[in-house]
Amino acid sequence: MSKLVIVSGLKPTGELHIGNYLGMLKQAAELQNSGKYDCFYFIADYHSLTVKYKPEEKKREILNMAVDALAAGIDSEKSTFFLQSAVPEHANLAWIFNTITSVGELERMVEYKEKISGGETPNVGLFDYPVLMAADILLYKGEFVPAGEDQLQHLELTRTIVRTFNKRFGKIFKEPRGILAKIPRVMSLDDPTKKMSKTLPKGCLYLSDSPQIIRRKIQSAVTDSYKNIVYDFEKRPAISNLILIYSEFSGIPIPDAVEKFKSANYADFKKDLAEVVIKALKPIQEKRNKIATNEDKVFEILSKGAKKAEVVARQTMDQVKEKVGLL
Ligand code: TRP
Repeated sequence: MSKLVIVSGLKPTGELHIGNYLGMLKQAAELQNSGKYDCFYFIADYHSLTVKYKPEEKKREILNMAVDALAAGIDSEKSTFFLQSAVPEHANLAWIFNTITSVGELERMVEYKEKISGGETPNVGLFDYPVLMAADILLYKGEFVPAGEDQLQHLELTRTIVRTFNKRFGKIFKEPRGILAKIPRVMSLDDPTKKMSKTLPKGCLYLSDSPQIIRRKIQSAVTDSYKNIVYDFEKRPAISNLILIYSEFSGIPIPDAVEKFKSANYADFKKDLAEVVIKALKPIQEKRNKIATNEDKVFEILSKGAKKAEVVARQTMDQVKEKVGLL
C-alpha cells in the first residue's frame, strides 16, 4: 500500500530561529522519521522572489536554508528534498490553477494584505503566492501539510482549488489538511505579545546562537511581576512562553515542567532553560558546521531530490493536461 503523502515548503528568508524550528522543521523531521509517510520537502525559492530581495544574496540564502534544514534533521535518504525552481511543473500547474481561481478569493488573503500594508510592492507574484502553494502541494498529491498557523488560510484556498478542479475536470485531487506543530507560535523573548522574529533581534534565539548569547538573551527575557511559575498564556504570556520553550527542548511535558519549577524563582528557571536550549541546539549546530563545509554536496543532494520529485511531478502534470484538454 502506498504511504500517505506529506508536502511542505521552506521559504529561504534569512537565518532560522527557534520559532521556525519548533513551528515547523522539528515536526517535519519527526514525521519523516516515523516512516509512515512519503515526504516531499522543498525550498520555496520561487515564493521567496515575491518580496524584496537582493539577487546577489539569493543563492546564499537558498543554500543556508538547505543547510539549516539538513542540520535540523531533514534526511535526503528518507525524504524527497529539493529546490522548487528545479522542478518546472510547480509553475506549470500554478498556471492551470490560476485559470480556475477567482481574483476575489485571492483578495481575501490576509498574508497578502499584511505584506502590502507592510510596504511590499503589490506584484502579481505576491498576489498569486497562494496559488503556487496549492500547486506545490497538489503536484505530489499531498494529503498533509506541516505548516505554521499563518498558512492555514492558504491551505483553505488549496482545498477550494481541489473542489473546483475536481468538479469541472474530474476527480484527481484530494483535499489536503494542515498539521500544526504543537507549538505553532513561539513569542519574542522581549515582548510576549509579538511572534518571535528577526525584526526583534533581542528577543529572537537563532539556531546558530552561541551558548553565551543564548544565556544572555534568556537572562534578559521579560517575565512579569509575579514570582511563581505557571502555564497560562492568557494571563501570564511571558513566563508561559518560556515554559513552552523549555518543554519543547527538554521533552518534559508542560505540567511536569511547571511542577519541577514550582518553588524556583525566575532567575533559577532561566538558568536551567538556557542550558536546555544550549544542549538541544548543540547537535544541530555541529551538524550545520559540518554540512556547511561541503556546499557541493548540498547541491548534489538537492539535484538528486529534484530528479525524484520530477518523476511524480510529470505524472501529475500529464494527468492534469489530459483532464483540461491539453493532451
Ligand atoms: N508559504 C509557506 C511559508 O511561508 C512556504 C510554502 C511554500 C509552503 N509552498 C508550500 C508550505 C507548500 C507548505 C506547502 O511558510
